[in-house]
Amino acid sequence: MTTRALLVTSSILSENGQSNALANHFKTKTEAHDVVVTHRDVVANALPHLAIEELGAWQTPANERNADQQALAAHSDELLAELRASDVLVLAVPLYNLGIPSQLKAWFDRVLRAGETFRYTENGPQGLLEGKRAIILAARGGQYAGTELDSQTPHLKAMLGLMGISDVDVVFAEGLNMGDAQRDAALKEAFQAIDQLVETL
Ligand SMILES: Cc1cc2nc3c(=O)[nH]c(=O)nc-3n(C[C@H](O)[C@H](O)[C@H](O)COP(=O)(O)O)c2cc1C
Repeated sequence: MTTRALLVTSSILSENGQSNALANHFKTKTEAHDVVVTHRDVVANALPHLAIEELGAWQTPANERNADQQALAAHSDELLAELRASDVLVLAVPLYNLGIPSQLKAWFDRVLRAGETFRYTENGPQGLLEGKRAIILAARGGQYAGTELDSQTPHLKAMLGLMGISDVDVVFAEGLNMGDAQRDAALKEAFQAIDQLVETL
């Protein structure tokens, strides 16, 4: 059966981005498999910060929205449709200032939508996306995996978990700014890990 992958890239460095190199490797590897990849570059198609007008548009019934509200709601509706249509979400994520790129946060702000991807219950929030898995391809200049300074991985897992995606694999390419030897070894290892994950799709 065909696997539908949504590949979200978020590097500001375009073709020089190392997370984009990981994403490209993933894309190339899937070509020999029954995998259809939809690519969403959240930098090339950057969204503004989430603001009250957009929240208001979501809270207005679709048939009562004015033209501005229709345009604002379309941002999220399009991204939600892409996410819902996927079996696996692949996030290629640079580490910028110890966090995720703000463009990726803007994407999460559009898909983490109460009533759509999660709902509030008396036992706390409940994810509404079922049967999806996620793969995080993390590119970093330094080395943080498994340390307290890696607040990025728990943050990403928490946001995915809120929507009900708890099956998450992480591929790290770390120490990319720590010399050529370290960079080459980290990328090689990450490419191999991606190859193995593609076999599981
Ligand atoms: C604006 C900016 C902030 C960065 N902040 C960090 C950081 O906090 N820690 C780190 O290890 N590397 C940091 N780096 C290095 C990146 O993580 C590294 O270049 C990685 O390859 C980024 O992914 P990309 O190449 O796909 O953009 C930063 C790079 C940029 C451009």
